[in-house]
Amino acid sequence: MSVPAARGRMPGAARAPMTAFLRRLLAALLLLAPVAATAQQPALSGPPHLAWRTGAEARAIERRIDALLARMTLAEKIGQLNLWGRGDEFRMEWLTEGRTGAVMNFTEPADIRRVQQAAARSRLGIPPIIGLDAVNGFATYFPQPLGQAATFNPRLVELASYWSAREARAAGVNWTFAPMIDMTRDARWGRVMEGAGEDTHLATVLAGARVAGYHRGGLATSAKHFIGYGEAEGGRDYNSVWIPVSKLWDHHMPPFRAAVDAGAFTVMTSLSAMNGIASTADRSLVTDVLKGRFRFRGFVVSDFESVGELMAHGMARDGADAARRAILAGVDMDMMSGLYDKHLADLVRTGAVPQTRIDDAVRRVLRVKMHMGLFEEAPYEPATAAAQMATPQARADSLAVAREAVVLLRNEGAVLPVKPEVGSIAVVGGLATHQEDWQYSDNVGLPRVRPPKLTDELARLLGDRVRVTSAPGLATRCSLAAGDTAGAVATAAAADLVVVMLGEDCEQIGEGTSRAHLDLPAPQQALLDALIGTGKPVVVIMHTSRPFVLTRFADRVAAILQAFHLGTEGRTALAEVITGRINPSGKLPMTFPRATGQAPIYYDRLPTGRPRIKDFRYETGYLDEKLEPLFPFGFGLSYARFAFDRLALDSATVPLTGAVAGSVRVSNTAGPAGREVVQVYVRQKVGARSRPLRQLRHFEKVEVAAGGEVTVRFAIPVRSLGYHDDQARYRVEPGEYEIYVGNDSNATLSATVTVR
Ligand code: NOJ
Repeated sequence: MSVPAARGRMPGAARAPMTAFLRRLLAALLLLAPVAATAQQPALSGPPHLAWRTGAEARAIERRIDALLARMTLAEKIGQLNLWGRGDEFRMEWLTEGRTGAVMNFTEPADIRRVQQAAARSRLGIPPIIGLDAVNGFATYFPQPLGQAATFNPRLVELASYWSAREARAAGVNWTFAPMIDMTRDARWGRVMEGAGEDTHLATVLAGARVAGYHRGGLATSAKHFIGYGEAEGGRDYNSVWIPVSKLWDHHMPPFRAAVDAGAFTVMTSLSAMNGIASTADRSLVTDVLKGRFRFRGFVVSDFESVGELMAHGMARDGADAARRAILAGVDMDMMSGLYDKHLADLVRTGAVPQTRIDDAVRRVLRVKMHMGLFEEAPYEPATAAAQMATPQARADSLAVAREAVVLLRNEGAVLPVKPEVGSIAVVGGLATHQEDWQYSDNVGLPRVRPPKLTDELARLLGDRVRVTSAPGLATRCSLAAGDTAGAVATAAAADLVVVMLGEDCEQIGEGTSRAHLDLPAPQQALLDALIGTGKPVVVIMHTSRPFVLTRFADRVAAILQAFHLGTEGRTALAEVITGRINPSGKLPMTFPRATGQAPIYYDRLPTGRPRIKDFRYETGYLDEKLEPLFPFGFGLSYARFAFDRLALDSATVPLTGAVAGSVRVSNTAGPAGREVVQVYVRQKVGARSRPLRQLRHFEKVEVAAGGEVTVRFAIPVRSLGYHDDQARYRVEPGEYEIYVGNDSNATLSATVTVR
């Protein structure tokens, strides 16, 4: 990290008389001197690797905060608790007046410099924290987080976060509102693509990877949304959430725990209310659990205006009451409602909010800023930004992630990869020629990558041998209206193979995009039916941000590729998969339902007293649909065929303190070299309470050469096999556990182990 020798950033250092106390403070600052010694490098020559400091350094920071707090007025303290966004209302002077300690949505380097300069001119010169939703990239885009999860490859997920951070940091941003680590089991909810899907183990591993990646790339993280937002009833965004204690702790809490353990600097509350308490007013979770039980040392930020929304939730009489409830719950920073700014001072003066709570909140904000090194940082140099955007390495890494994020769901008659006898391919759908991909936040005034067209990438990779034609088929790229179906059919009929790209475009993705229907929109289905009617083999690319219901066409098309918006290099990755340069290895991080009415659907459900065995009325199921999903969690095909055998446990009995260890052989029995995800599921057969049918407890992606085999070892700590009771107490029970190993959640190779 580069640091200027003397910046006058130490609050008031130039103006205050040199007291003994100040001398001590300066001495404490010298503890940080090794960092300052490397002052000469240009700013942002590489991102700072953020991490909580430890030992003497951390103690020195606390003393430094004590000293700073002692010099702050109440107004300056409250200023640190306000987060304002670029927009009509915000004024740069507020930073100079000490009225705000944090800003968001500034993405233009010159603007960010102005933000810093305005804050530097304030009485205490406390540097601002500058936030942005850098979710899946900044100039180079990576697959949506759900697509990243489909790689089942934590290293690639870490890389995607790293670059998202690194590019945003080069633009001057230093804090991201990510990772979203809400658990998601209901595809109707539009934000499922921001998380890692339905499985707790996968989401927990990836939560740690994402935090680590962002910090390595120089952005402080905000793990969000604490907690339960992903379980909005009916999949309707912002709707209320009902989660029993045991499920909250078994299913929703582990990723947050992992994020805190990985060093997340901040945590964001949710817009929703869980079990009747709005998250932004939930003291028992924010203060008792997060700050108490998890020992979280950073600060908690509200979601956008969620302090003010406490009134709409019916939990606050007016703005002052909302501010009081939120701050007392433990929400340290107010994002955009302005109610802390407006009311906290009076609330303190009247004794409604104790001064100690304000001091604690400010301490947390200052602590984050100091551990991030913001007080020692060189002034941001906007001129360095452009050269750091969309570098060849960032794009190569984005392609590497996209390649492993493609999930092959069907490949009848091995239609893919494209066979030598195919002389022409018709590419249909506006999305295939569209040159944008989904991103959460746009950068302004900096270079950005325009994704290539799928048609161009296919033509490039196939060369002169294959003619690639195209037709939009739909009126708009968003594919919501019928277009020139006849033209598309004619183009398809003249080709040997049809590739059609359907799904969702940017306007249909993310916050506020819940769906009541998960089928293809009618014009898309009609176009697809017409293409199938040509009798040509049809390859469908589902370019969606969530699982769709594919039942109406799945068994009538030759192949299906699932792409959760793969970023700027996604179309290249798809073309590589279609042409066989890349052997697909993505796996579904969410179950794909057969019908919308099955939602929420997930594999690790509890057994019922009436399982589906004989397929008759008085067994669990539906009158009008099968019980099973269309594609299970963990599923994804390869151009190779993999076989699993020789499952062997090291021991048939293990102690509570031990691990279920063993090995399995994976053989590539046909096709090219490929990557396979070995998935190990565990079921506790009998417990004090009903336990899930199986739960993923280990996964590993391995490369297996053509005709080759790999023996994979696993060791699952027995302590990870337990569950929480209704008082949130964790227990692991002795008894029999069944182990299932394979390449999706229907894995059948099994062995039994007894925990003693
Ligand atoms: C509201 C979203 O819920 C949250 O996730 C996001 O970080 C903020 N808006 C800021 O954009």
